[in-house]
This record gives sequence, structure tokens and C-alpha cells, in this order.
Amino acid sequence: MARQRIICDCDPGHDDAVALMLAANSPELELLGVTVAAGNQTLDNTARNACRVLQWLGREEIPVYAGCGRPMVRDRVTAGDIHGETGLDGPVFPPLRKAAEKEHAVSFLVRTLLESQGDVVVVTSGPMTNLGMALRMEPRIADKLQRIVLMGGSYTNGNVTPAAEFNILADPEAAHVCFTSGRPITMIGLDVTRKVLCYPEIVERMAKVNTCASRLFVDLMKHFCKTQKEIFGWEGGPLHDPVTIASLLDPSLVTTKPMNVRIDLSHGDSYGRTNCDAFGYLGLPATADVAVDVGVERFWDIIEAGLRRYGETEAGT
Ligand code: BDR
Ligand code: CA
Repeated sequence: MARQRIICDCDPGHDDAVALMLAANSPELELLGVTVAAGNQTLDNTARNACRVLQWLGREEIPVYAGCGRPMVRDRVTAGDIHGETGLDGPVFPPLRKAAEKEHAVSFLVRTLLESQGDVVVVTSGPMTNLGMALRMEPRIADKLQRIVLMGGSYTNGNVTPAAEFNILADPEAAHVCFTSGRPITMIGLDVTRKVLCYPEIVERMAKVNTCASRLFVDLMKHFCKTQKEIFGWEGGPLHDPVTIASLLDPSLVTTKPMNVRIDLSHGDSYGRTNCDAFGYLGLPATADVAVDVGVERFWDIIEAGLRRYGETEAGT
């Protein structure tokens, strides 16, 4: 079977890094490139982190494209409280050899989608600035987008404000552009990603895998779970972003429901909320497949299998 062609648009970020581990080494996927935006940290940091992770994994041939350093309209927000000053605090990385490409992430998205046969899925796990800008810059790419799969939003509570989730709140206008693109969208929000909590037993289980990827996973999770506990009180950090990639590897992993989704752009208390009409109150057409459940055990099996596919030594050191 042909491998699913994907682009990962991200802001690494501890959980983004785990999503990249899965995406970069799954036989079912062809990772065409990693595009990066400011989000969890500044663009310099997130681009460097994407390069660090791919180098660590020995996947330096996968190109990284730095994109937008600021959201479309609002002021920039970061998540240094969770991901630290570098955006990937915790692991000690070797000196960096890999660099981002010269091409801008938005140009890469436009070029790759236009040249494609409509067979590329864009997976976003950060603010949707790059994809939103690409859609505005070259509207013809909409017809070429097979699907957008995003980690973002929530039909219950937010995680930055009571109403809004970080990736959407960090650039609500870009999310609006993506959600109104008319293309198929799978929205994997906090409602399900808060079910995949990385408890200490999970960290111990992954440590036993003993590959370069599992060692990075463990170092990442030690920091991530600590800050998640300090801020939210969880005993295990919710491993949000990899649910996107895992859902491509096993389409039965995530249960979705079609809903009309509108991004709150009002700049009030609910700015950045994903208003998901789960019960069809508004009588409007569904615009996204919204995740309502996830197979938690299966998810951890997918993560473990992904970590196992790597070698034992730090390939990129
Ligand atoms: C999202 O926000 C970021 O901090 C994480 O990387 C994830 O993409 C969760 O709200
Ligand atoms: Ca992220």
C-alpha cells in the first residue's frame, strides 16, 4: 500500500517531539517535511528543536522549514511554563549540525501542495499560522489538501483560558482560515488528548524499550510531566500532539463526530474557543470531524512500537 504523504507543522515542544518520532519512522507514512512556527517558544527555538530531534533520531535528511514567527493578528503567546526556556527543556542534546532550509515554511507548503496529486495530509500540532498563511497566499492549495489533522481546540475546557486551548488561542485567526477552508478536518482536541496521560508507569515502560528514541522520550517526559503536575495537578502529562500521528497509523484509534466548528474571534473571554456544535443546535453543516474518544491502551502500544523502530544508539550524536 502507498504510504500516506504528510507534512508535520509544529512548534516543538515536548509532545510535538514525540509526534515527530512517530512520524519520522513509521512505514505507513512518508514525512515530506517539517514546518515550524512560533508557539510553545519563539520561532528560533522551535526550529532549532525540530532540527535537534531529527538529528538525535538520525533522520537529518528530513527537511525542516522555519515559518511564521508571529501570529496573524494577535500578540505572540508562548508556553514557556510547560516547555521551558528552550521549548524542549530536559534532554541534553549534542552540538547541532542540522539547520533549517532556506525556503520559508509557507512557501514549502504552497509549493508541495500545488505540486501534489491531492494526496498530502497536513498535520498541525502548533498554532495554525503557517497553514493559514499558505491558504491566504495561494488559495488553490485548498483543493490539494487531502485533509488537515490538528491537535487543537476543545469542546469542553481550555488549557490557557477556561475557554481556549493553546494552539488555537495562540493564533485564532489562522485557525479560522483553516477551519473555513472547506477541506476535510480532523480536530483532535483536549477532550481526548487529556485521556492519554503519561503516568510514571508509562515512562518506566518506555524506558525499557532502550532505543535512542525511548531515551529521548524519557528525558522529555520527565520535564513535561513535572510542569504539567505543577500547573494542572495531573499525575501524568497529557501527551497531546502524538494522538494526531497515531490516528493516521490506526484510523480506529480515535472516534470522531462530525460537527460545525467555529472559532471565537471576538477578543472577549472566549477568544480562541472552538465552538463545536455537537448536538446540531445551529442547524449548520458539519465542518470538522471532532475527536470524542481515544483508545488509550492502543495509543501507548503505538507509541511503544514507534520507539522500538529506532536503533539503540543516538544516531545523531
Ligand atoms: C498544545 O499546546 C502545546 O503546548 C502542546 O505542544 C500542544 O500542541 C496542547 O494544548
Ligand atoms: Ca505543539
